Amino acid sequence: MRAAVFHKPGDISYDTVDDPRIEEAGDVILRVTSTAICGSDLHILSGAVPQSQDMIMGHEFMGIVEEIGPSVKNLKKGDRVVVPFPIACGHCFFCTHNASPACENSNYKHYGPAGDLLDSKGAALFGYTDLYGGYSGGQAEYVRVPYADVSPRIVPDNMTDEQVLFLTDIFPTGWSAIDWAQMKGGEVVAIFGSGPVGLMAQKAAWINGASRVIAIDPLNYRLVKAKQVNKVDTINPHEVDAIEAIREMTGGRGADVCVDAVGFEAERSFFDKVKATMNFEKGTDKVIEACFKAVRRMGTVSIMGVYGSPYDNFPVHRMFDKGITIRQGQAPVLNYIDHLIELVKDEKVVLNDIITHKLPLSQVSHAYDIFDKKEEDCVKVVLKPWE
Ligand SMILES: NC(=O)c1ccc[n+]([C@@H]2O[C@H](COP(=O)([O-])OP(=O)(O)OC[C@H]3O[C@@H](n4cnc5c(N)ncnc54)[C@H](O)[C@@H]3O)[C@@H](O)[C@H]2O)c1
Ligand SMILES: [Zn+2]
Ligand SMILES: [Zn+2]
Repeated sequence: MRAAVFHKPGDISYDTVDDPRIEEAGDVILRVTSTAICGSDLHILSGAVPQSQDMIMGHEFMGIVEEIGPSVKNLKKGDRVVVPFPIACGHCFFCTHNASPACENSNYKHYGPAGDLLDSKGAALFGYTDLYGGYSGGQAEYVRVPYADVSPRIVPDNMTDEQVLFLTDIFPTGWSAIDWAQMKGGEVVAIFGSGPVGLMAQKAAWINGASRVIAIDPLNYRLVKAKQVNKVDTINPHEVDAIEAIREMTGGRGADVCVDAVGFEAERSFFDKVKATMNFEKGTDKVIEACFKAVRRMGTVSIMGVYGSPYDNFPVHRMFDKGITIRQGQAPVLNYIDHLIELVKDEKVVLNDIITHKLPLSQVSHAYDIFDKKEEDCVKVVLKPWE
């Protein structure tokens, strides 16, 4: 089959590889109809999340069940499904405690309680390096889905792929950020980063009763998109002091909820890069720091952006002084997906309005390039393996 294969940092190409096959009784093989590139894939492309051998990319995908393992009960050939990005066994301690991103069984080689830099990780993720289970991803014509009775969800025939594809990752991820803040209604929510995850958090904030949603991003075209699809207020931190602006909009207090939808590969100055090199840090924690400054006392900060190293001078003092509640981690997609499918079905939310590029999978290298470099006003790319 054909697939998007990571070879080394900066090198993802459209290659011919072996077809996947049923390996465990609970597997299914999907014929992938649509797949997307995630900001998390960029951490592999940059080399920041390390991978030493070739790997098929992709953890946002959907498709049609083509082949079925002997023990699978909930799916049959021909079912059309979306697949949550964390791989969960469904019966371990964490899977039975609403914590599927911590599944103890899917990532048996590198799983552990410690959360170290290069070992002792949580659940496996599709197409997300050997550290996260070494499973092939879904930026391919076909993909093997293990524990197929647990996570895949059948989607209505009358909905297009584009309407439901983002239930695999970014909508539940944006939703987690807001759900974790336990909003009561009327809150001001400031969301740093207006990429796909930030845009989805903006949608979730409105649905959960925000009175005002503020998007912060240094790229004006992404702020234009945010205004257009989500009717948010926008701040470009290159043009104004974002923290001061947020305080001014909130009677001097700060936002009730801040979301980091950027992560460690935030834009950086030369000084930031020198500091990171000297401290053996990966990227920067400056967006977490900005959230701590911008949130009101006793407010909540949800960190959805990925972090993969320790940071010196982490502002724990500010966190303590202001009594900030912090939530973070991989999104527990399974906890939300059934509710979120209903929201999409009932037209309470539209997800496909963030798509800027639909390309055949054969153009995957170009697709990564424009998404990574933020060219062609790219916000979200959907790839079609069969077109
Ligand atoms: N926790 C999870 O389960 C989960 C799931 C999906 C994605 N993620 C992570 O979420 C993050 C965002 O993903 P994405 O797909 O939206 O990526 P993206 O790269 O498209 O978007 C990031 C946005 O942040 C902006 N940005 C950069 N520096 C900034 C700063 N200092 N202040 C404000 N904005 C800044 C960029 O201009 C860009 O628009 C990534 O780190 C990704 O790995 C986490
Ligand atoms: Zn993702
Ligand atoms: Zn499990």
